[in-house]
Amino acid sequence: MNDPAEFVRHAIERLRADVPERAIVAASGGIDSTVAARLAELALGDRARCLFVDTGLLRDGEVDRVRAYFRESGTHVQVVPAEDQFLSALEGVTDPEDKRVRIGHTFIRLFEHEAARIRTDRLIQGTIAPDWIESGGSGSDGSAKRDTIKTHHNVGGIPKDSTLRLVEPLRDLYKDEVRAVAQELKIPDPLRQPFPGPGLAVRVVGEVTAERLRRARVANRIVEEEVERAIRSNELARPWQYFAVLLPVRTVGVLGDNRFHGEAVSVRIVDSIDAMTARSVALPHAVGARIAERITRELAGEVVRVLYDLSDKPPATIEWE
Ligand code: XMP
Repeated sequence: MNDPAEFVRHAIERLRADVPERAIVAASGGIDSTVAARLAELALGDRARCLFVDTGLLRDGEVDRVRAYFRESGTHVQVVPAEDQFLSALEGVTDPEDKRVRIGHTFIRLFEHEAARIRTDRLIQGTIAPDWIESGGSGSDGSAKRDTIKTHHNVGGIPKDSTLRLVEPLRDLYKDEVRAVAQELKIPDPLRQPFPGPGLAVRVVGEVTAERLRRARVANRIVEEEVERAIRSNELARPWQYFAVLLPVRTVGVLGDNRFHGEAVSVRIVDSIDAMTARSVALPHAVGARIAERITRELAGEVVRVLYDLSDKPPATIEWE
């Protein structure tokens, strides 16, 4: 892409050609899908219905933050509450790849339902080049293929039996190009750390239940608050990503005069340029101690131990899954 203004003109033309009537747009609150949603609105007006799915796998306050971001970006997005569907799809599932597949299918079934309501089969997504390269797909010109690393997209690909037809206006762009297009469209950068499409489900190792999700949500909020406090007081440079992972172990602790068994949380703080490789951040002990004290206090009787993940990527990945 050479000229963002030219890209926008061309993308609008292509969207009009690819979407004869109406389309739904999958918006996640990230910059890619927000750019795709804005392009869809410019091309199709109110024939584009932009949807944000509240999976129930989101962090504290996320739905409100995302709503505010859409408002700032001038995009009209409807929030679809779907916590129950996702939790029931994940019931009894512990295998990480199986979790991803079920989450992907739940997204697809929801989009199929919403598409049928407005009598369309077109789903516009903000997929960009690194997404399909990491998933082992091929480009619109049939270029580069790689082995499947994981079902990486937020939506995990479209199953063969789906009635939906994907439209991906940003498919050939890289992140810096998407940022240039966003600037052209006056869409601000959400300035948030990357957050995976499957949400806290990849940060709850083992079965995802409402109870365990709540623990992961509290622990993630504490890590974010304490890391951001440490950034403000110059104890820490802003890392690429910082979060908590709930581990399915039963480990012993004390509560009052009694021994009891609870779970453990691992804190993950990494630096990276492009998420392809990453280094575990050297966390000042005082910051780690504050995090551990708050997690074990605010989740007393549930989480007993807090660990720090020292592994780099590779060989570890950033998320635990
Ligand atoms: P890993 O865990 O593979 O993650 O080292 C690399 C980066 O990608 C994020 N991530 C995802 N992002 N959908 C996303 O949009 C996903 O399914 C997904 N899985 C991982 C992860 O947070 C890290 O920034």
